[in-house]
Amino acid sequence: MKPPILLTSYVFPEVIELLQQHFDVDDNQRREAFDAVSLRARLRDKAGVLVAGGDRIDEALLDACRDLRAVCNAGVGYNNIDLDACTSRGILATNTPGVLDDTVADLGFALILAAGRRLTEADRYLRAGRWGRWSNDLLLGMDIHHKTLGIVGMGRIGRALARRARGFDMQILYCNRSRAPEPVESALGARQVALDELLAAADFVCLTLPYSAAVRHLIGAREIGLMKPTAVLVNIARGGIIDENALAAALREGRIAAAGLDVYEGEPAVNPALLPLENTVLLPHIGSATRATRAAMGLCAARNLVAALSGGTPPNLLNPAALSRRRG
Ligand code: DGY
Repeated sequence: MKPPILLTSYVFPEVIELLQQHFDVDDNQRREAFDAVSLRARLRDKAGVLVAGGDRIDEALLDACRDLRAVCNAGVGYNNIDLDACTSRGILATNTPGVLDDTVADLGFALILAAGRRLTEADRYLRAGRWGRWSNDLLLGMDIHHKTLGIVGMGRIGRALARRARGFDMQILYCNRSRAPEPVESALGARQVALDELLAAADFVCLTLPYSAAVRHLIGAREIGLMKPTAVLVNIARGGIIDENALAAALREGRIAAAGLDVYEGEPAVNPALLPLENTVLLPHIGSATRATRAAMGLCAARNLVAALSGGTPPNLLNPAALSRRRG
């Protein structure tokens, strides 16, 4: 008998096909919204689950799922999964690093351009029938080229963003726990600085760091206060890194010029203070949303699930300590 698994979200046909070769698949191709109660009911008798960022995998859920052996996230960020709780129960947890870096960096750069050059505001202006005549000072934005980009979090996505910025002749500052190797710094023309220095010097600040409780509201009123009044803040990491109330106040009062956000602390709910702001580009967490990349993420998560439930070591195992306690 094939082990039973649950897919919490719609996946592409090639992902289902791969999984059906190995598992008895309970899918969600009808895109039902799972609340905590229905997720628990559907997962109770499963050996594995393929989840996405919106699915909260916590202790209460794991306690109700005694047969669960693997939780495989279709995404690189895994702050939706209580990793310690998985490890202590011998449940393997995985993510999908490496397959989405360029796609997310593309979107980060799109937000830099859109917020800096006021693209969505200009689009709304035109559609509202407000464009009467060409005007010298209509919708003036910021130059991107030759400006300074500050990247907070210099992992794979931060480096991919820096490569794009090189093409715009930008100067690159970065802030990261560890220093990037010298060849990486010189190839990117990037210089490591402290966060406060980066915030004060950058024309564009882009957040690309992983989320943990330690970085909740890393960018709050004090940090925003260090930024230039002409600066643009972009977030393609996780919403909770920014204190959104402080950001909304700064944007409303013109203390920074603009923001481009793909992620929100309470998503899919968006802080209502952000919604009326013309100088803010708001996207619904589409950083990795291309057909090719979402398929690659799905296949990567599926391969992790196959390895985890066949007694192997999944390629993208997040909690190796769970291996020695793995279930059945
Ligand atoms: C990730 O992989 O963490 C992304 O946010 C998903 O789009």
